[in-house]
Amino acid sequence: MKIFLTGGAGYIGSAAAAALLESGHQVTVFDSLVTGHRAAVPDGADFIEADLGDHELVFEALKAQPYDAVMHFAAFAEAGESMREPGKYFENNAHHSLWLLEACVQAEVKRLVYSSSAAVYVTSDELLLEDARLGPSNPYGQTKLMVEGLLDWYRRVHGIGYAALRYFNAAGALADRGEAHAPESHLIPLVLQVALGQRPEVRIFGGDYPTSDGTCIRDYIHLSDLVSAHLLALEALEPGSQMIYNLGNGSGFSVRQVVETARKVTGHALPATDTDRRAGDPARLVASSEKIRGELGWSPEYSDLEHIISSAWEWHRTHPQGYK
Ligand SMILES: NC(=O)c1ccc[n+]([C@@H]2O[C@H](COP(=O)([O-])OP(=O)(O)OC[C@H]3O[C@@H](n4cnc5c(N)ncnc54)[C@H](O)[C@@H]3O)[C@@H](O)[C@H]2O)c1
Repeated sequence: MKIFLTGGAGYIGSAAAAALLESGHQVTVFDSLVTGHRAAVPDGADFIEADLGDHELVFEALKAQPYDAVMHFAAFAEAGESMREPGKYFENNAHHSLWLLEACVQAEVKRLVYSSSAAVYVTSDELLLEDARLGPSNPYGQTKLMVEGLLDWYRRVHGIGYAALRYFNAAGALADRGEAHAPESHLIPLVLQVALGQRPEVRIFGGDYPTSDGTCIRDYIHLSDLVSAHLLALEALEPGSQMIYNLGNGSGFSVRQVVETARKVTGHALPATDTDRRAGDPARLVASSEKIRGELGWSPEYSDLEHIISSAWEWHRTHPQGYK
């Protein structure tokens, strides 16, 4: 298939682009490099360096070749930042996605795979099924839910089939691809930066959540398992169809458990201090991914936190400056 892939210079999009190429698909990466890295775009992909905000250019790019599908990873993805600058998120994540959908209509592209998020759900002590209560805790999650709504109307009105994949926390690395955001806000890379001597200590945001040890609980999914789900969703996606799937492991780990596991993996003491809660963080988000396992036969290989952190550590240790 010919795939138009937004955000393919980022952490998850670049890994997906590489896997698509390995499976024999053709890939055009569309990325402004606002948070991504040119070096992360895999060899073999065509690359358009441009911003989704340039709606005319997006229209032209999508019409330039007969694409079979769009995979839409590009977004701002820092929940904490979205609590300070909501407009930045509504503009980039929601408004520009609307115009990408309009471009799909014009170019007659009938399949779209979308990077949604666990941030659409209300915090819960139960495993979250896809029909669990929705209620984002931050504007970032709201933008993801808004785009899911847009997708469904474009399916009903224009027959665009979509798969909304609600990722829980993407984590870990492949041999040549890892997480490199600047500034970094994700827990595992932040902790590993302490092990590399790039930060003095781990700051734990909030020790008073109603959880077993007072810190937030999240579900971590390995990058390669996330990517394999995209390939399955793409294969199964038909024009006019709708899929919504959680992508997680079904195991929740607290911030303290992540830090403790990282101590074991790295052999560093990793000093940690509790600080105030970060606005917009729900207490607990853990997935049930039974639906995608049952319907698409997805089976994640790496549910073990130690393995996930080890793979991230290997990448950070060998790429201390990320892609630079
Ligand atoms: N990382 C996670 O744990 C996680 C969890 C849930 C959902 N997601 C979603 O997955 C997707 C990818 O996340 P990531 O962690 O790889 O983020 P990332 O920041 O590494 O990648 C995003 C990419 O999109 C590009 N981009 C952003 N806005 C753009 C625009 N207007 N025009 C062109 N390119 C633009 C960036 O340059 C970057 O390369 C995002 O949609 C994110 O919301 C991520």
